[in-house]
Amino acid sequence: MSDQSQGTVSEAQAPLGEADPATVIVFGNEKGGSGKSTGSMHVVVALLRLGFKVGSLDLDMRQWTLTRYLSNRAASMRNDGIELPMPTHVFLSRSEKANRAEAEAEDRKRFEAVLTKLRAECDFVVIDCPGTDTYVGRLAHGYADKLVTPINDSFIDLDMLANVDGKTGEIIKPSVYAEMVWEARKQRAQRGGAPLDWIVMRNRLSSLAARNKLEMERVVATLAKRVGFRVAPGFSERVIFRELFLRGLTMLDVFEIGDSGRPQLSHVAARQEVRGLLNALQLPNRIPTPHDRTATYEAIETPSLIGEAEES
Ligand SMILES: Nc1ncnc2c1ncn2[C@@H]1O[C@H](COP(=O)(O)OP(=O)(O)O)[C@@H](O)[C@H]1O
Ligand SMILES: [Mg+2]
Repeated sequence: MSDQSQGTVSEAQAPLGEADPATVIVFGNEKGGSGKSTGSMHVVVALLRLGFKVGSLDLDMRQWTLTRYLSNRAASMRNDGIELPMPTHVFLSRSEKANRAEAEAEDRKRFEAVLTKLRAECDFVVIDCPGTDTYVGRLAHGYADKLVTPINDSFIDLDMLANVDGKTGEIIKPSVYAEMVWEARKQRAQRGGAPLDWIVMRNRLSSLAARNKLEMERVVATLAKRVGFRVAPGFSERVIFRELFLRGLTMLDVFEIGDSGRPQLSHVAARQEVRGLLNALQLPNRIPTPHDRTATYEAIETPSLIGEAEES
């Protein structure tokens, strides 16, 4: 069966429909280069290919990786004459106000306006956070239904979750980031929403069954209980996760557009890993909102989306 138009709908559970707000999936941590943008892009495309209407929001005002990935995708459509499903993508532009409190107030207003709009119009909203602690990054964590934290498979990255004693492997204390997630959980609870579901995903796994890898697995499982997250099967270290960036494609697209100039086995395995992540997210059942799947991409800058330009 093809990947297209088959949102997972079971009759036993009443699925969410158009009137229900989108589920918000945030990719976050406080470390660059761990796979947030790669993970975001793959989840966006996986959901699109299931027929869902997807909103994507890039909060990384330094790198704009997800925005560049999607604009490469739009260029591929134009240049190669292929049709690719696209999200409604927004990149949040930073307030230019000099006063910090005023700038934060404006950033908050923009972020909340964009999120409200995307949640109302889409089935899922995927937010790609920067790898540093920023004001809007924190805000996003407070609105996450699902928080996905990719970590590279090394003890250096584990430090993002908790400070672990190098000798004994004992957990000394949760990290600053884990405390920030704790805060986000509290904010959510105060607003009366369902609890935040935090998922840690190991990324760039080596194919070797090295001792380090097994030790990581053990420590991550211990941390999961202590810090309060679930562990998703991660992505292996694969060239394919990198090399399609310039064309704005993922291997979920490669099959659909019949681009078969490359060996297929690693594509199949990589696609399986992306599906594994999607399953691990345990997303709610939804009926995909009908929408124009061939709509051409237009990255929308925040002020024009929320009509700030006309206002001022
Ligand atoms: N599983 C993987 N296999 C190979 N390369 C990867 C994998 N995940 C990420 N990368 C590469 O690592 C770099 C950092 O990934 P990125 O998603 O941009 O991280 P972040 O958004 O957390 O900074 C990118 O060059 C990306 O292509
Ligand atoms: Mg990134």
